[in-house]
Amino acid sequence: MRAIAQAQPNIALIKYWGKRDIKRNLPAVGSMSLTLESLWTKMTVRFSPEIEHDWLAVNGETADEMLPRVVRCLDQVAGKQRHFATIESYCNFPIAAGLASSAAAFAALVTAASSACRKSSDRLILARAAGAASGSAARSLFGGIVELESGDDEINVLALAEPDDWPLRVVVAVTAGGTKPVSSGDAMILSEKTSPFYSSWVANQEDDLDVARCAVQARNFEQLAAVSEHNCLKMHSVMWTSRPPVVYWNKATLACMETIRALQDEGQAVFFTIDAGPQLKAICLPENEALVAAALGAVDGVETIMTTGLGPGAQLLDDA
Ligand code: PMV
Repeated sequence: MRAIAQAQPNIALIKYWGKRDIKRNLPAVGSMSLTLESLWTKMTVRFSPEIEHDWLAVNGETADEMLPRVVRCLDQVAGKQRHFATIESYCNFPIAAGLASSAAAFAALVTAASSACRKSSDRLILARAAGAASGSAARSLFGGIVELESGDDEINVLALAEPDDWPLRVVVAVTAGGTKPVSSGDAMILSEKTSPFYSSWVANQEDDLDVARCAVQARNFEQLAAVSEHNCLKMHSVMWTSRPPVVYWNKATLACMETIRALQDEGQAVFFTIDAGPQLKAICLPENEALVAAALGAVDGVETIMTTGLGPGAQLLDDA
């Protein structure tokens, strides 16, 4: 009873920030994201009556601090009567640094676990299980451009465009690879309790989603750029106005934003987004990728540049 799955992180253009139901981890708002191609997490899950306790390793090292969340997710997918499991995860990009590593991890985990215990492999069911562990993980079950609807009682997730339908490129500027100071889950609960901007953030989200959906349908890059940057800055305004403030940016993040602005002033088709971490993600068309990567790579404080296209949802690699 062993299975291996791979999933890619996703980068939200219209952000999830806030929980409608903390216990079930249901989002307060819908969101829209790009599933990436070249960044990945591979997860092997093995259930066996011979295993005496659950055990998790990440990149070859035992990771006890992450185990409780993983165990809860396994219980949800496989049921509490399941056998104990060993879970081994490998990731080719920095973890817990605002690069959606938990999204890739939980999407891969539910895919591998459901196959290893011969449970449903329906993508929406798996997306809901992944979303209960990490809200954004639900989106990594699907590829290309993905929308998550917050729904009445359950989330709904659907692909708005397949990876090849609109060949957008993503250039990631890593400005600090370390772990973030406060988890996104804790920070969004703090924002709801303390930011005076939180209620208007939630109230306006559907409008941003409508604009972004139309932009995707029409392949209107400028419209998608404008609404995505606006939505990102609104989310960060909510974080900044929480008490205590949640500021994930550093000097290099701001310098990267200025670089993107300068490229836009020259007429280049590119825009930025930033999540719960100091890395900046630039979205552009294929013909601009080299230029954007070079410009961001030259910014003081940028440690690494990663480039990727859009990729598929979580996939099963092997089961036995
Ligand atoms: O899914 P979580 O709990 O890691 O939260 C993700 C929050 C953001 O990355 C900032 C926004 C998003 O929609 O992915």
